[in-house]
Amino acid sequence: MELAARRVVLGISGGIAAYKSAELVRLLVGAGASVQVVMSEAATRFVTPVTFQALSGKPVFTDQWDTRVANNMAHIDLSRGADALLIAPASADCLAKLAHGLADDLLSTLALARECPLLVAPAMNRQMWENPATQRNVTLLRSDGVEIIGPATGEQACGENGPGRMLEADEILAALLAHFQPKLLRGRRVLLTAGPTFEAIDPVRGISNLSSGRMGYAIARAASDAGAQVTLVSGPVALSCPYGVRRIAVTSALEMHAAVHREVADNDVFIAVAAVADYRPVKPLAEKIKKGMQTSPPTITLVENPDILGEVAALARPPLCVGFAAESEKLHEYAERKRRSKRIPLIVGNLIGDGFGGDENTLVLFDDEGQHPLPKAPKIALARQLVARISALLESLAWQHRSLGA
Ligand code: C5P
Repeated sequence: MELAARRVVLGISGGIAAYKSAELVRLLVGAGASVQVVMSEAATRFVTPVTFQALSGKPVFTDQWDTRVANNMAHIDLSRGADALLIAPASADCLAKLAHGLADDLLSTLALARECPLLVAPAMNRQMWENPATQRNVTLLRSDGVEIIGPATGEQACGENGPGRMLEADEILAALLAHFQPKLLRGRRVLLTAGPTFEAIDPVRGISNLSSGRMGYAIARAASDAGAQVTLVSGPVALSCPYGVRRIAVTSALEMHAAVHREVADNDVFIAVAAVADYRPVKPLAEKIKKGMQTSPPTITLVENPDILGEVAALARPPLCVGFAAESEKLHEYAERKRRSKRIPLIVGNLIGDGFGGDENTLVLFDDEGQHPLPKAPKIALARQLVARISALLESLAWQHRSLGA
């Protein structure tokens, strides 16, 4: 329940993307938020207020002169005490009104009278988005501190292809959740590895493991939500890239190794979450191995993969390195031993009794100050705690540098 006790006013302006807002209300409510929907008159032409009333469990407001508000001040009352005003979809007309302080209906008046942050998810045809007038308005809104979420590029309802499509409901929710996170890593650059690697035996077979990538993806998201610029080098997983994160897709350990070395310079933090295969077949076969063609079963000769984390930690000017130790027994002993052998300041121990891949996890952090257990929780909650620990370590390292006069 990441939005428990949060009050969100969801403004809906006139655009076909209003159909996605129904799903957005469902997701916001599911995350624990109390959602008050306010629609422009044009929005009600696309989806009726009844839909949003049913999904939010609250009457929907569309009219400045609504007599249900006793003092006739719906524009003040509705956003009072709100944690955020989110307008999705925000049409070109809506952005223009917001940028210039127009207040000729309930939604625009409410936006002008608000005390809370404003986030907008633009949705319009490509030409309308690219029009210099819209771009001017977006620049004005940004300079006023309004957060612009999206838009996405892709196929549009009008049949065209290009920028202007509203983000999907889950991406808008992710952006709102990010908005509420403390910016502990603002200005920092974070590089991560995540997922399994796949080591080819022949063109159709290989060696891999059951890492789902979820813990690494949760950490990438948490770091990005905390304000960092995040690059995620990911092995093959069935997960979509977290909002705001740059992903580099790789398959084998050697590809992951090459991508990390290409990217690592100028990063403040390197977090190795990937379950990298320890060994790979010496040379993948060019043709598929055929059953019955050999007199005896084929043998696969393996060679050790490079230790990506170990190499990064041994660089002349390494980023702050964080490793993972997934163990099936003796977690404390093995994790601490690993931390010392790889010479890294922080290792995250993970007892994999239940195997890989669940939504929850139990972790123990090991650093110079000792161990710090993180009780069982959803992976994103653990990821946010890990990010807080990393931010504290960065601060103390910066302090050490300053006091050493470096
Ligand atoms: O050496 P071991 O595999 O036990 O250490 C696990 C940690 O090292 C994890 O953080 C993992 O991402 C990283 N690792 C790596 N390259 C390898 C093997 C492990 O970066 N080849």
